[in-house]
Amino acid sequence: MSNNMIEVTNVDKKYINGKESNHVLDQVSFHVKKGEIVTLLGKSGCGKSTLLNMVGGFEKADVGSVMLDGQEVTRPTRKCIMLFQQINLLPWRTVLKNVELGLEGEKMGEEEKNKRVMDALKLVSLEEHLHKFPHELSGGMQQRVSIARALAMQPDVILMDEPFAALDTFNRYLLQDELLRIQEKMKTTILIVTHDIDEAVYLSDRILIMSSHPGRIFKDISIKLAKPRDRAGEDYHYYRKRILQDFELSGNRQEPEYTI
Ligand SMILES: Nc1ncnc2c1ncn2[C@@H]1O[C@H](COP(=O)(O)OP(=O)(O)O)[C@@H](O)[C@H]1O
Ligand SMILES: [Mg+2]
Repeated sequence: MSNNMIEVTNVDKKYINGKESNHVLDQVSFHVKKGEIVTLLGKSGCGKSTLLNMVGGFEKADVGSVMLDGQEVTRPTRKCIMLFQQINLLPWRTVLKNVELGLEGEKMGEEEKNKRVMDALKLVSLEEHLHKFPHELSGGMQQRVSIARALAMQPDVILMDEPFAALDTFNRYLLQDELLRIQEKMKTTILIVTHDIDEAVYLSDRILIMSSHPGRIFKDISIKLAKPRDRAGEDYHYYRKRILQDFELSGNRQEPEYTI
């Protein structure tokens, strides 16, 4: 039995637009071990979301394979849940009812359903806000509701596409800590897409730096620092600097555009 939860092998993807062909992913291979937090880091347009969508079963590779826990991914499943930056809560449903939504259609008793929902809400510290509506919550709290909805489904894998990008720094830090605390407890495998180097170094066991046009895995770097990490620490800065250097080497450096 493989220790890998996610295995992506030789994936190639082109989008055809009329006569133009956009080679988005070229020979992409990587794996994520069970219980690992791995980040795909790369600049906008390098194919991160396309790759994440393939793992989630929303997008198909032209060539190559994507395996989840030993099975080929052909469609989205409840084993692998995607969380987006845009929070998609139903405004007319309370916190509790929004989390219950994740379990709709599942064959389980009311008691088990309630327990799962409450456990998930406790994990994100929202048990005192059950009957509030989304508009009564801050952005950070809304994102926690969507995390709780995913957790209630007890997935093997959570995929996150720039999940905290819309939050202010303090809320982002808070949620990053919350995510680590939950992951420590649940051992969920997490694959995150971000262009935020600090977020990548803070959260990841491994960082996969992508280059663009076409998207490739440029480097696979293990962050060998105990968690929780000290953002002000020397070791942390060593990794931050190293990732930044590799990021620039990969062609990710954004040249300023002068319009004179
Ligand atoms: N459904 C699609 N149809 C056509 N082109 C797409 C589609 N999705 C993404 N692309 C193109 O693929 C490239 C990579 O996009 P994306 O995976 O969203 O990058 P990232 O998430 O790294 O910013 C971009 O050039 C984008 O315009
Ligand atoms: Mg994207």
